[in-house]
Amino acid sequence: MSEKKQQVSRRQFLNYTLTGVGGFMAAGMLVPMLGMAIDPVLKKSKSGELHNAGIAVEDITTKPQRVEWKVDQVDAWYESQVTKSAWVYKDDAGEIVALSPICKHLGCMVAWEGSDKFPDQYYCPCHGGRYTKDGTNIPGTPPPAPLDVYEKKVENGALYLGKAHPRGEA
Ligand code: FES
Repeated sequence: MSEKKQQVSRRQFLNYTLTGVGGFMAAGMLVPMLGMAIDPVLKKSKSGELHNAGIAVEDITTKPQRVEWKVDQVDAWYESQVTKSAWVYKDDAGEIVALSPICKHLGCMVAWEGSDKFPDQYYCPCHGGRYTKDGTNIPGTPPPAPLDVYEKKVENGALYLGKAHPRGEA
């Protein structure tokens, strides 16, 4: 009788031990997997970073020029590289202005002097939207607001651009 009691006890001990070791191993595998799954969501966005726009400050003139640069974009679990662009020029005070080329009507790309009919303006080919050199939307054309303005800084003679911000409704 006492021997039988001891066998049951051993079986129980084995069950507890195997369950405990199994649970410990499962937790050891699940915790890192959970961490990897959640990590991209918890990571801080890199949207505040500024990137070299690929133009030297001395090459920026009073005439708007289109510049392009590449940015690594992380969208939760999906990483990609996107090309950004801007129209940059120096205003009358010598200040650098960097404008988003994305039309505020429906998002087409505007081009400086994009239409022979409207020199010295940004022109949107989609619906004829127009903007003055400083990005102000011209009344009577479709865009409801001025072009967005990029965050910028100058470092070692190069122009760095960040996020484009709206200037509000015109
Ligand atoms: S998208 Fe530019 S005018 Fe419509």
